[in-house]
Amino acid sequence: MKNIKIVVLFAFIGIASYLIFFEKEATVENRWYTKTQVLQGQEIFTKNCAVCHGEKAEKTILWKKTLPDGSYPAPPLNGDAHAWHHPYEQLMSIITNGGKQYDGKMPAFGDKLTNKEKEAAISYFQSFWTDEIYNLWIQHGGLKNK
Ligand code: HEC
Repeated sequence: MKNIKIVVLFAFIGIASYLIFFEKEATVENRWYTKTQVLQGQEIFTKNCAVCHGEKAEKTILWKKTLPDGSYPAPPLNGDAHAWHHPYEQLMSIITNGGKQYDGKMPAFGDKLTNKEKEAAISYFQSFWTDEIYNLWIQHGGLKNK
């Protein structure tokens, strides 16, 4: 009898510590990211991206109109433009390599931000996407190679 009690006690301690140490934060409902990532992403976005894309990823409204030098302004990333056409790995690649692959002006963040930081920045601007836009992204294979 005594042994059983000890076994039960240890099993209990084991499960409790597993839950305390290894339980992962739940993701935001129906999204791939957590709230913590969005908060971290907000900080990264404000520092590195907002100057062109706006504090809430809402700039530039007239993103299809070229600038006097023939280049395009930064498009909104809040779901208004076409960022949802790009699967996750392509969003990552644009942030890492910048716009030069499309003759664009977006700077490369390859060695300025870690992959975790880029991931958080993506979660931040995607937090503005409506469920409709987000689901379109998923249907277009948004998370296929994440
Ligand atoms: C100096 C201005 C500038 C900064 C800073 C900047 N971007 Fe951009 N971004 C652009 C421009 C301009 C484009 C359009 C492509 C091009 O012309 O290079 C773009 C395109 C993008 C795209 C593709 C959107 C689409 O619909 O095709 C993503 C994603 C993106 N930027 C994310 C970011 C993130 C995340 C940061 C911060 C880490 C950032 N950008 C910082 C100017 C900027």
